[in-house]
Amino acid sequence: MKKYLFITAVLLTSAIFLAACGGGDGSSAGGDAAAGEELFAQTVIGAQAGCITCHSLDEGVVIVGPSVAGVGGRLSADELRQSILDPNVVLVDGFPADTMPPVWADELSDEQVDQLVAYLLTLK
Ligand code: HEC
Repeated sequence: MKKYLFITAVLLTSAIFLAACGGGDGSSAGGDAAAGEELFAQTVIGAQAGCITCHSLDEGVVIVGPSVAGVGGRLSADELRQSILDPNVVLVDGFPADTMPPVWADELSDEQVDQLVAYLLTLK
């Protein structure tokens, strides 16, 4: 009888362990930051110039857009999402509207936007 109790306990423990780790794709804030990093680094996304073509990761370096260094410390997840999907609503000082192409709502899947937001949040 004791033996069965022990086996049950072991099974229960591993079930809890598996549940806790389940879907563990390194995600944070609903998206996979590692996938977001890869996506951000693509020079081309679909028919568009990729994020890295315009955004440097080095502090203070302007290509076409502002550097994204530290952007995760300045903007919340919602603000990041808006600056990707609706870039003209809030403009970074000194950059005119439509310089960041307002195409990403069409070009990116919801999952890809989540991944980019999760990645940008790591840039603190
Ligand atoms: C053609 C150039 C260009 C491309 C490509 C581009 N951006 Fe931008 N981006 C800009 C410009 C210019 C701004 C500043 C004006 C504004 O706020 O819309 C900006 C602003 C931003 C901001 C706000 C930064 C801040 O400090 O508030 C974020 C976040 C951002 N872009 C992310 C992205 C991501 C993610 C991609 C790829 C999916 C991307 N951008 C692609 C030009 C670009």
